[in-house]
Amino acid sequence: MLTDTFGRPLKDLRISVTDRCNFRCTYCMPAEIYGERYEFLPKADLLTFEEISRLTRMLVRHGAAKVRITGGEPLVRAEIEILIASLSQIDGVADLTLTTNAYLMEQKAQLLKDAGLQRVTISLDSLDDEVFRRMNGRGFGTAKVLQGIDAAEKAGLTPIKINAVVQKGVNDHTVVELARYFKDRGHIVRFIEYMDVGNRNGWRLDHVVPADEIVSMIDAEMPLEPFERNYKGEVAMRYRYRDGGGEIGVIASVTQPFCGDCTRLRLSPEGSVYTCLFASKGTDLRGPLRSGATDEELAAIIAGMWGARDDRYSEERSSMTEPQHKVEMYHIGG
Ligand code: GTP
Ligand code: 5AD
Ligand code: SF4
Ligand code: SF4
Repeated sequence: MLTDTFGRPLKDLRISVTDRCNFRCTYCMPAEIYGERYEFLPKADLLTFEEISRLTRMLVRHGAAKVRITGGEPLVRAEIEILIASLSQIDGVADLTLTTNAYLMEQKAQLLKDAGLQRVTISLDSLDDEVFRRMNGRGFGTAKVLQGIDAAEKAGLTPIKINAVVQKGVNDHTVVELARYFKDRGHIVRFIEYMDVGNRNGWRLDHVVPADEIVSMIDAEMPLEPFERNYKGEVAMRYRYRDGGGEIGVIASVTQPFCGDCTRLRLSPEGSVYTCLFASKGTDLRGPLRSGATDEELAAIIAGMWGARDDRYSEERSSMTEPQHKVEMYHIGG
């Protein structure tokens, strides 16, 4: 088993399959920067499905057992279900899931399920159409996302988790409504503290609503109690409704960082691996892959990279004086 300099094993692989997205969330790909002229990666630079599958097989041999497909928006990558079908055949992939804004989910849900996808996590920051339109930067209402969630449920891509990034003065007044809506429907909402990922969203600490405050707001209307994590290293802290009506999660990466248990490796669309969400640079695997490296040669690169890993950005943030240049979130998928 591979371990890094803090003894953390490699357990999770997050694969970003495209840097493109049909949304322009203000905290991720602000429309004024990612406009018509923005140049995304050309197709030839993207790893092919065969290349992704080969790297996944290798990383699974090194310990990765959970695989999550991300983007950008993974459903905008053509025929993504073909990749899912290939990954679902790999022995040792115990959990295969995908994070999406669900805008294209209605047409894809059954194809994804048939290809072997187990479950999905859907991003939805507010049920309030006006708030949502503003946050997704494209003026899209919530209806299509809600239909996408229903389609995912119908196809059996469950348990469904709903991710909501909470920003002070933007959508924090709609948190309780979101919790209530999904409590009734049996999906797990996870409220995420707004993070300083990337370099372009103008993040400030006073835009963050601490997880404790989020829990208090919901608890005041629908009483909650904390309960144990599903597994060591789970990023969300879980709370269940005292009336037995399901659970929520909060992801407190700013106020209560969880680097100590971080077992995640991120593969970018053009084939670099990043050992931290806040890394400034990755390790290129596409070059060796395309110049004919053997499995042993690739394995040596992976072992060297994970063995040298000493990232703990969220824990160090408060003591940093200089801003760092970081990879953009939409590039490595959160
Ligand atoms: P499950 O497999 O369902 O438990 O999913 P997960 O807990 O891995 O959740 P998901 O991938 O949906 O992550 C939710 C959000 O938490 C991400 O979109 C990020 O915003 C944040 N997050 C996930 N992993 C990390 C991490 O390693 N570091 C930090 N700082 N934030 C993370
Ligand atoms: N802070 C917290 N979460 C973010 N996400 C994207 N950008 C940020 C940010 N700055 C979330 C998305 C999605 C997941 C992939 O990451 O809302 O749920
Ligand atoms: Fe797209 Fe997700 Fe980024 Fe929003 S947060 S712009 S949906 S990749
Ligand atoms: Fe892992 Fe980096 Fe997030 Fe810490 S900040 S939990 S090391 S990805």
